[in-house]
Amino acid sequence: MSTVPETVKRKGALTPARRREHAQMNGSSLPIRQTEIPGPASRSWVDRLAMHECPAVTARRARRAAQLGAADDDPIVWAEAQGTNVVDVDGNVYIDWLAGFGVAFVGHRHPEVVAAARAQEDRLLHAMGDAWADTTRITLLEALADIAPEGLTVGILGLSGSDAIDAAVKTAVLATGRPGVVAFGGGYHGLALGVLGLQGYKASFTDPFREIAHPQVTHLDYGGELAHLDEALAGGTVGLVLVEPILGRGGMTPAPEGWLAGVAEVARRRGAVLAFDEVQSGLGRTGQWFASAHDGVVPDLVCVGKALGGGYPLSACLGSRAVMDHWGASKGESLHTQTFLGHPVGCAAGLAVLGLIRREGLLAKAHERGERIDRALAHRGFTTRGRGLMRAVPIGPDAYPVCKALLQRGHLVLPAGRSGDALGLTPPVSLTDAQIERFADDVAESVAEVRR
Ligand SMILES: Cc1ncc(COP(=O)(O)O)c(C=O)c1O
Repeated sequence: MSTVPETVKRKGALTPARRREHAQMNGSSLPIRQTEIPGPASRSWVDRLAMHECPAVTARRARRAAQLGAADDDPIVWAEAQGTNVVDVDGNVYIDWLAGFGVAFVGHRHPEVVAAARAQEDRLLHAMGDAWADTTRITLLEALADIAPEGLTVGILGLSGSDAIDAAVKTAVLATGRPGVVAFGGGYHGLALGVLGLQGYKASFTDPFREIAHPQVTHLDYGGELAHLDEALAGGTVGLVLVEPILGRGGMTPAPEGWLAGVAEVARRRGAVLAFDEVQSGLGRTGQWFASAHDGVVPDLVCVGKALGGGYPLSACLGSRAVMDHWGASKGESLHTQTFLGHPVGCAAGLAVLGLIRREGLLAKAHERGERIDRALAHRGFTTRGRGLMRAVPIGPDAYPVCKALLQRGHLVLPAGRSGDALGLTPPVSLTDAQIERFADDVAESVAEVRR
C-alpha cells in the first residue's frame, strides 16, 4: 500500500525537490505528475544528449516522431530512482514496470545493496581481473555455486549479459571443438559483436554487420519441431545450442511444456553443449532462481546478468566442472579476462542481492506479485502470459501508442515481442497492491484512449 503523504499527492503542495524527497522515502509511490511529460527539463537535457551521443544509442527523436505521426516525442530523462519509482528531471514520479531492463528486481537503489557497495568502496574499488583476485569475487562465485542449477558450480564473471553469452560461446567451442551455434527465432542475447549473430529477435540489428557477425549460426523456430534440431546437429559442426527458457524481449513467452527437456535430450545425444540464457529470466524473476527449474531441466551452461548486480554491471556464465575444465589450466596468461572482470563493488552488490532474495523469500513473492498483476488485469478484461514478474499483456498493433499513453499516466512500460504487440512487464518485486490496481486501471484507460 502506498504510504506517500497526502500533501505529496496534492499538486502544487510541495516544490519539485520536496516531492522527489517524499516519493523517494519508500520507493512505493503512486505516480505523481508535476509537469507535461516530457517536461521542460527533460526536453532541454535531450537536446544536449542529441548533440553528443551517437544516434545509434538514443535521442532518435525524429524517427520516433515519424513512427507515431507526432510532432514531438522526446524521452524523459531520469534523475533518481528508488524501489519501484523513477523520478525524472522535472520531478515527475513514475512506477517502473521494467525495473530498468529487469535489473532492479530487488528494487532500485535497495538500501542493502547500496550499503554493501559503499562498504566495499571503503575497502577496495578495483582488483586485477585474472591476475589477482579479491575476496569479494571469490565469495560471490561461492554464492553463485550455491544457488546454481545442479552441478553448475564453476563460473566466469563478466560485466554484461553479452559478456556472459560470449563466455558460453567460447566455452562450447573449447568443449566440443565445433564452432557452430543453434539459436532460436525471437531469442535475444545482446548486441556485442561476438554474440550479435546469435539473436533471432530482429534481423535489422544484425544486418549492417552481417559479414562480421558470427558466421555459423542456424536459427530454428522457438518451441518448434525437435526433428529440425536433430537435423541441424547431425552434421557434427554445432557445438552450442543456446536458448532462453522464457523468451524475454521476444515476448515473455515460456517454452512449450516439455520442449526444453526435448532440446536437452537432442543436444546431449548429438554432443553439443546446451546453454540457457537466463540473463533476464534468472535470479528470481520468474519465481524460481532459474526459469529452467519450472521445466526441471539442467543445462550445461547458464548465463545470468541484469538482476545480479542490483544496478551494478555484473554477469556470470556458470557451468559444470567437466565443461569448464576444457579451458585447461592457466599457462601464465589467461585465455579469457577483462580489465574489470569481477569488479569488487559489483560483486559486493551481487552478494547483497543474492542474500536479499534468499532471506526475504523473494522467489515466492515474485510468483505472488505476478499472479496479483494477472488478476488485476483480468478484472479489466486483459490476459497476461509469462511467469512470475516476467509477463506480457497482449494488446495488438497499437501497443506502442498504449505505452506512450501509460507514460502520460506515470507508468514506464515498453512493448515486447518481435512485432512489439504486447506490453512487457519486468517490474521490481516490491510492487504494492495499490500500484498494481492503479496500473490495471490505467492500462484500461490508455487502451480506450488510443482506440477512441
Ligand atoms: C535474454 C537476454 N540475454 C542477453 C542480454 C544482453 O544483455 P546485455 O544488454 O547486458 O549485454 C539481454 C538483454 O536484454 C537479454 O534479455
